[in-house]
Amino acid sequence: MNQASLHRLLMANAKKKDPKVLFDQRLATNLTLIQQLYFSLYPEETNLDNFQKLLSLLPVLFKERPEHLKLQDISRIEEGNWYQSEKIVGLQLYVEHFNKDLKGLREKIPYFKELGVNFLHLMPITTRPKGESDGGYAVNDYLKVDPKYGTKEDLLELTTEFRKQGIYLMLDFVVNHTSNEFSWAKKAIRGDKKYQGYYYTFEDYTIPAEFEKTLPEVFPETSPGSFTYIPEMGRWVMTVFNSYQWDLNYTNPDVFLEMLTNLVKLSDQGVDVVRFDALAFLWKKMGTISQNLPEAHTLIALFRMCLQVVAPGVILLAEAIVAPMDIIKYFGVDQKEGNECEIAYNASLMALLWNSVATKKTTLLYKSLLHVPDKPKDCTWINYIRCHDDIGLGYENHLIQELGWSPDMHRKFLLDYYCQHLDWSPATGLMFMYNPKTGDGRITGSAASLLGLEKGLALNDKSLIEASISKIIMLHGITLAFGGIPLIYAGDEIGTLNDYSYQKDPAKKEDNRWVNRPMQDWETIAKLDDIQSPPSRIFHTLKRLIAIRKNEPVFADHNNLSLCHTGNDHILVFERKLDSGEGLLVLSNFDQNPQVIETSWIKKLGYFAQGDPVDLVTENKVSINSGLLEIAPYQLIWLKKS
Ligand code: GLC
Repeated sequence: MNQASLHRLLMANAKKKDPKVLFDQRLATNLTLIQQLYFSLYPEETNLDNFQKLLSLLPVLFKERPEHLKLQDISRIEEGNWYQSEKIVGLQLYVEHFNKDLKGLREKIPYFKELGVNFLHLMPITTRPKGESDGGYAVNDYLKVDPKYGTKEDLLELTTEFRKQGIYLMLDFVVNHTSNEFSWAKKAIRGDKKYQGYYYTFEDYTIPAEFEKTLPEVFPETSPGSFTYIPEMGRWVMTVFNSYQWDLNYTNPDVFLEMLTNLVKLSDQGVDVVRFDALAFLWKKMGTISQNLPEAHTLIALFRMCLQVVAPGVILLAEAIVAPMDIIKYFGVDQKEGNECEIAYNASLMALLWNSVATKKTTLLYKSLLHVPDKPKDCTWINYIRCHDDIGLGYENHLIQELGWSPDMHRKFLLDYYCQHLDWSPATGLMFMYNPKTGDGRITGSAASLLGLEKGLALNDKSLIEASISKIIMLHGITLAFGGIPLIYAGDEIGTLNDYSYQKDPAKKEDNRWVNRPMQDWETIAKLDDIQSPPSRIFHTLKRLIAIRKNEPVFADHNNLSLCHTGNDHILVFERKLDSGEGLLVLSNFDQNPQVIETSWIKKLGYFAQGDPVDLVTENKVSINSGLLEIAPYQLIWLKKS
């Protein structure tokens, strides 16, 4: 049982639901674990004072938490795992690309309602350096709203309105690094030793050179290496991402305390889910790739356990875009099970779906999903097909090999397929951060462009357009039904194509991820009544699928997904089965030709018990010919068993 469940049990028995009494109870409940985690990072012999500081900080942070959020915390504990509900559907957006600023965003609440989304991930809205800022992931201040989005009051008004309207808000906490303009970095540059110790700074290149031997490069084209020399400071600083993003030094206990304070204060603005950005990188060790280290997990659990004491209604999302076996660990293992992040991006499913589209086969997808252990029962996924970042090809090499393919050649094929190196491919993506030293590259492009809509429209090729629309719907249909929070990237709900305007902006042109960060196309949205246009067909179908999901408890995440083997390599089938006997069978065909599967096993599962079942997607009955079910190219079928 994780700590959150323990708090729920204890609270049910509590005579008084006084927030302060419950805070004390939570602190007592988490204290042993907090202590163990803390001293495993910061040895007890030299850090008793620092631990004392942490213990004094927690009640202060609790006192400062707004009263209405303390009450919400209590109802969230009572409610249980709200984030596993079928009722939640998300949208991710850049405020300035959506409708100008925070006020503009608020005006669009009716649009969210119409589509059916009630969980928003707003990309960073805090202050950042002028010019390049990694889309705001170079943070000048964790709490100050950048004036281009509005004011702190606008944010508070927005979160109040969201609460009223039942919309959950997710904001980033860029926990691994600050910008070089952050107050700590500025002090470090001016020679302040204390703040130089907040980062990994070195007087010469000896230690950086050792680190470089094993550190992979994140942005090899634009920011090669992981250290930057700062002449004014006369020191090197670790900059794993861009040269203007300085990695925080968590071996320094003061950094942890300051960042915990920032985390709680961010939560106090009415945030429901905190996205822990780039959390795999939180701890560095020479001789390793400095990703996914055990100490990083300890640190995350420590943040989690402290936040839970102060603001138990707020949960964490792991942004760990790493190998499948590593992602699952961010839910916590052993003592930390269920005590790290409640949610993680299902980056494995995302990357495997793109692999299946290109290969038209689901073999690697099955192998990989079967290879990863089940997640803890109180945790869930964010399931998505596109986000603001690139698509990394994070597959397990040995599984590619088991299929008889060469991992390098296979990745090269995928890059060629998506990045316009193959004439016959319908995709119009771009290559991101190709590293000639390793042959690694990633893919950018909007979902619609990667799935052929851009090419189809340019060539006026009706069958290509039809195929791309079907693929778009099929992929979204899988993420809506997989179990977890489906997260749509704003614009994908209307099939928005690549946006090449970034090439003219000096602050963006080196980073082609901007090609998949388009302006929300309100003109097209105004014309969605034209039922024939591709945007309209995509929008209305998604809207219907979302409504179906929200109406059927079988879509909630009960950690109950099982893959079904059909013997047909083009097909993906999974079942979501409830103890009550209810079930949902999701079938999809990744091939350009119709495919058939044998059906006796579907009958055995009970889906035909009341005659031919209705496909929730088309509302048509599914029928069987000679014991075979035919699935059209890129068709998605949702069968429900009552
Ligand atoms: C995360 C963000 C990405 C950013 C990186 C560094 O991966 O999603 O956009 O570049 O962190 O902050």
